[in-house]
Amino acid sequence: FEKYIPFQPIPMAGRKWPDRQITKAPVWCSVDLRDGNQALVDPMNLQEKLEYFHTLMDIGVKEIEIGFPSASETEYEICRELIDGGHIPDDVTIQVLVQAREHLIKKTFEAIKGAKNVILHFYNSTSTLQRKVVFHSDMAGITKIATDAADLIYEMSQPMIEAGMNLRFEYSPESFMGTEMDYAVEICQAVLEHLHATPERRVILNLPSTVENCMPNYFADEIEYFIEKLPSRDCAIISLHPHNDRGCGVATAEMGLLAGAERIEATLFGNGERTGNVDLVTLAMNMWTQGVDPELDFSDINKIRDMYERTTKMKVGERQPYAGELVFTAFSGSHQDAINKGTQWMAQHDSGYWEVPYLPIDPADVGRQYEPIIRINSQSGKGGAAFVMQHSFGFDLPKAMHPEFGHIVQVETDRVGTELKAERIYGLFKENYIDAD
Ligand code: KIV
Ligand code: ZN
Repeated sequence: FEKYIPFQPIPMAGRKWPDRQITKAPVWCSVDLRDGNQALVDPMNLQEKLEYFHTLMDIGVKEIEIGFPSASETEYEICRELIDGGHIPDDVTIQVLVQAREHLIKKTFEAIKGAKNVILHFYNSTSTLQRKVVFHSDMAGITKIATDAADLIYEMSQPMIEAGMNLRFEYSPESFMGTEMDYAVEICQAVLEHLHATPERRVILNLPSTVENCMPNYFADEIEYFIEKLPSRDCAIISLHPHNDRGCGVATAEMGLLAGAERIEATLFGNGERTGNVDLVTLAMNMWTQGVDPELDFSDINKIRDMYERTTKMKVGERQPYAGELVFTAFSGSHQDAINKGTQWMAQHDSGYWEVPYLPIDPADVGRQYEPIIRINSQSGKGGAAFVMQHSFGFDLPKAMHPEFGHIVQVETDRVGTELKAERIYGLFKENYIDAD
């Protein structure tokens, strides 16, 4: 990541701009095995969840929400297998989700017995809309649901903590984005107090968009306001859980970090309810390309993508940032030419920085190849064919030859009407220059 020059702002008269930048990785929490899994047509079986879990650990995710163990026997068994099967190393924390309901909380405590590091994540919905149409309750009633749950969780956790479990708490005011901010502060503060949070034992306050129904800057303002007003700010870790209903999950997360959040819940390729959760890969690699270490390893993105597609039976789109089949491909001639020049520039200047136009990232950083970057079709310019000859076959064609050979290739692309593979371009070169001699 050091080879990426952080975005250089153009100074604007009288303004300090930008006044904030993301300079370090947040704490990452994967919710693939819970939010992602619950949104699948065919939820993952035990083997698939285990494979996914191990991939997340290989990537370097240290907090992993493994499911909702009180929701079904399958979920319970998966939780037990992870714990009893010795799958969880000491530096990884499992997170389990539960509604703020007594019998579900009790079942969840059973499910986590014997684990070393656990985050118990409980939630209830707080938004104006949910209070009105789902719970038919006022604010006091909703707060009581949360604080009763907090009391029970605190009480049940004490023997486990005394016995050595590293058990932490997370509370989500579900539908936070649609909650009056002063009320969000009030209920979260009450939860902190009922959980006896201290600066040494901080509680995670996870602020979900749940349904993304406002612009990222509005959400960021909410986060900023919430943090400013929360009386026990030093007893809380501020976490975000953006969804992607307006297609702005990544922007929402990034702006939320700028507003002061320290932790993000996300999923690989943005799997999750409806339009999904925020995409962990894009968030992390966006940091990478700004010269910030995301502390996650996506150096073999194809392997991660294959695992994802196999276990979820979902497809990663061809234009998915950093991972899609086509994202390191240039079809247009002028783009190919500029990439060619950038590659040559880098070879000659060795500035230590990635300076190739049209490629915001070196494909090698995510384990992708240079070879498929240039494809030759009827839209390609004269430089593209020469680039393929150089990169795929080591032939450095003299500049004067580029127009003529480019024309030969173009005639062939017009004739066949499809893209030409590198081998065919070599074939044309051979037919016209080597065999013709
Ligand atoms: O989106 C959401 O609000 C959730 C909560 C359970 C955290 O998934
Ligand atoms: Zn969610």
